[in-house]
Amino acid sequence: MKVYLETYGCQMNQYDSELIRSILQASGDELISRIEKAEVVLINTCAIRENAHRKIYGRLDLLRPLKKRLKRQGQDLVVGLLGCMAQNLKQDLFKHPVLNLVVGPDNYRALPKLIARVKKQGSKEIDANLSEYETYRGVAPARVEGVNAWIAIMRGCDNFCSFCVVPYTRGRERSREIDDVLEEVTSLAAQGYRQVTLLGQNVNSYRTEGGTFADLIRRVADIPGMMRVRFTSPHPKDFPQALLEAISTHPHICKHVHLPLQAGSDRILDLMNRTYHIKEYMALVNKIREMIPDVILTTDIIVGFPGETGEESRETAEVMESVRFDSAYIFKYSERKGTIAAREFADDVSAEDKKDRIVRLFDIQRRISLEKHKGLIGQKVEVLIEGAAEKRSDHQMGKSDGNHTVIFPATSLTPGSLVFVEIMEASAGTLYGNPLPTPALTCI
Ligand code: 5AD
Ligand code: SF4
Repeated sequence: MKVYLETYGCQMNQYDSELIRSILQASGDELISRIEKAEVVLINTCAIRENAHRKIYGRLDLLRPLKKRLKRQGQDLVVGLLGCMAQNLKQDLFKHPVLNLVVGPDNYRALPKLIARVKKQGSKEIDANLSEYETYRGVAPARVEGVNAWIAIMRGCDNFCSFCVVPYTRGRERSREIDDVLEEVTSLAAQGYRQVTLLGQNVNSYRTEGGTFADLIRRVADIPGMMRVRFTSPHPKDFPQALLEAISTHPHICKHVHLPLQAGSDRILDLMNRTYHIKEYMALVNKIREMIPDVILTTDIIVGFPGETGEESRETAEVMESVRFDSAYIFKYSERKGTIAAREFADDVSAEDKKDRIVRLFDIQRRISLEKHKGLIGQKVEVLIEGAAEKRSDHQMGKSDGNHTVIFPATSLTPGSLVFVEIMEASAGTLYGNPLPTPALTCI
């Protein structure tokens, strides 16, 4: 069957789509890039905030005319919704007339069978059962070519931050065997990938008989050919010393730590069930900077959590000013059905206050990012080339070790190779420079 697969949401979803592609290809389906030719349309979805849901409903509405047109031509288009939103809303999703199929993140092995059933019987099929064991062992992700490969090293989350739907949509935490991950990275290196990003909802909870996350990342970074190893995300509550040592000493582990703060008030952190206070967070930041002086620190922040006062939002601003993150993702609180916060607290910060607070925090972060980026002017940074720059055909782009986007005049540097770029200009989001005439380091 000809299958068109669309992916929304986080990097874990990108990875899952690669697993889905692999499962479908193994059963003889063909993945295609033009939706008009599809017999099956699958949408891998996100549930983290309400606007993620809204976007998907909009997408489903847009599929209705296509489905109708094909029906007139005698073909029944199968439309399936996969991933976190499928797990979250289950059967309710069938209220949308376009959908035939709903499959949760732990049930992708059943996809070929379910699609066949829908095709044959015209039925509506659902499989949204969380598993304590499924890690897709033995499924080799079918990757879309690129310089970076995502690798989920674990699935699920046991942290139950009160605002977050992930523990309900992705279930209990489970780690993949260390040898399976190493085998996957070795094969990626042989295929020419030069960077991997290790993914987990909280990588610090990674545990197997073969070792901890610090053991795993060192062994991944030792694999010949693997020039850059990234990871996301660690939880501030249990950041191990051994991981800091690995980042500070291993030349192939990027010196970038994404450390979600979420809020700057201890009272709000308690209500969020984050299990740390600002004093501890700051002590961790200081320790990270002591051990890795040139570290790039980024974060996630939520504004307008239930009951958050203007003063408490100012506390978040103060923490931002004092840490000076290199960049930050800032979100408005979005109530998720079934979460602890939805059960216990009213979503009582007005839309206007959420907007004012997010704008204020955006402004602070933009200024700090710009100041930090300007501080890089004149420096030579090592860039892993990704390809052509968007909008400028005579420029290429890549990423620094700290994950900055760097744009430079060039057209023929090979994606996947490293080049030094002297930074000449900077904005809050991007660095601009000139590649140095010294021969590019090749990663092989
Ligand atoms: N509302 C707003 N932001 C959220 N996040 C998770 N759940 C919610 C929610 N209900 C944010 C957190 C997390 C990031 C991935 O998404 O900041 O770190
Ligand atoms: Fe959600 Fe917290 Fe788990 Fe992250 S650690 S996925 S924010 S519950």
